[in-house]
Amino acid sequence: MRHTKVKDLLNSTTTLQEINAKGWVRTFRNNQFIALNDGSTINNIQCVVDFENTPDETLKRITTGAAVSVTGNLVESKGAGQKYEIQVNKLEILGDSDAEKFPMQPKKHSLEFLRENAHLRVRTNAFGAIMRVRSVLSFAVHSYFQQKGFVYVNTPIVTGADAEGAGEMFQVTSLPLDNLPKTEEGNIDYKKDFFGKHTNLTVSGQLEGETFAMALGQIYTFGPTFRAENSNTSRHLAEFWMIEPEVAFNDLNDNMDLAEDFIKYVVKYAVDNCSDDLKFLEGRLIEEEKSKPQAERSEMPLLEKLGFVMNNDFKRVSYTEAVDILRDSTPNKKKKFQYIINEWGADLQSEHERYLVEKHFKCPVILFDYPANIKAFYMRLNEDGKTVRAMDILFPGIGEIVGGSQREERFDVLVEKMKALGIDEEELWWYLDTRRFGSAVHSGFGLGFERLVLFVTGMTNIRDVIPFPRTPQNAEF
Ligand code: 4AD
Ligand code: MG
Repeated sequence: MRHTKVKDLLNSTTTLQEINAKGWVRTFRNNQFIALNDGSTINNIQCVVDFENTPDETLKRITTGAAVSVTGNLVESKGAGQKYEIQVNKLEILGDSDAEKFPMQPKKHSLEFLRENAHLRVRTNAFGAIMRVRSVLSFAVHSYFQQKGFVYVNTPIVTGADAEGAGEMFQVTSLPLDNLPKTEEGNIDYKKDFFGKHTNLTVSGQLEGETFAMALGQIYTFGPTFRAENSNTSRHLAEFWMIEPEVAFNDLNDNMDLAEDFIKYVVKYAVDNCSDDLKFLEGRLIEEEKSKPQAERSEMPLLEKLGFVMNNDFKRVSYTEAVDILRDSTPNKKKKFQYIINEWGADLQSEHERYLVEKHFKCPVILFDYPANIKAFYMRLNEDGKTVRAMDILFPGIGEIVGGSQREERFDVLVEKMKALGIDEEELWWYLDTRRFGSAVHSGFGLGFERLVLFVTGMTNIRDVIPFPRTPQNAEF
């Protein structure tokens, strides 16, 4: 007999005869009531067991975590809290669960404990909700770009290029690390390596993406990226997913418009399609807030915060204006910032970004026209000769969620910049070809997918919005 999803049973408009449901026991009360969850929804279905006609040995095996199959009728529930329940006629234990040893007991667990059990944490309400929201958001990403006629490009994971020029890469090699082949000069001989050259895991698909934008017009990537930056923060992963649209003939303003429209679309999509899960996550946050001191409580409940982002313009501010605001800010004057902003040209830390968003503007902010020397080589130089057409989008509770720019389309200017930064032109010959043959104004950005999921779910640690987080000293599972 084909089983019906719990979600469909709970959404049924009539009672039903002879249905079958399969799932995992969340709780078993009074030797009679199973709360059954199958992952299709945050909600459990109540299954009422005919305990008088069920053998004791079977009843004992209905424990938290066990997989069961129940057959019976979907009837109107006599109890409060649910419209329908299953009156069980036949119960089958599919997989026992040792009640004493099962780590996901029906009680509150710390997020740290759950991270150590990332293979089982998805069986909790919160992680089930987060992972369903994540899935819906990734569909929304494709839906947005596909509707607009963007072409989805799978850029390589293994690459020779360091797109961001930050040198934070994981090397890919098949050379024996305990017996490396050497050149006559005594350096490692990468000609003998698998690809015949030095390669690493990609930090961004942008450079390859640009070559496609210069043929297909509008493209996007959505794939894993890797950064070996040793920053053990609640916003950084060593392996994360990035969405990178790239559009020919778009300038920086078009780029900002696209990013803002895109973010609003995907947030709205999640709100429209994940209401049960988001309501649960909002309730979870409200509970958590109660245990915090007043000053640290956030002002808006989750759904109101998402609505605010969907319905309000992002504030667009130049780097120069932002530095003026920060220099005059109370935490700067009172030396409360870890990094004091003294002069134009300073790189902004997440404490500054969050001050601008959370305290000063109180809305998402797009900062643009950054100093050239704190940004990547490919960004278009402004007429002032010292700023580039960069933009970062800053979000409350998150800091930077998007980084992007108008690209330097002028061959000579780009080559000069690469020379100044010591970037090998020969390595990037193919990238320079886009500027040799039919170059044009173009722009793009990268959205960190996990930072988006953080924002939408209201979680605070990026390790809790990716199934199996990779961070320094941690690659379990
Ligand atoms: O600002 P980033 O480094 O920009 C780029 O990689 C460009 N190539 C994008 C482009 O223009 N096509 O990274 C983009 C975004 C950041 O804003 C952030 O949201 C996310 O990627 N990100 C990370 N997310 C999680 N863990 C990390 N270690 C991240 N590093 C960047
Ligand atoms: Mg950035």
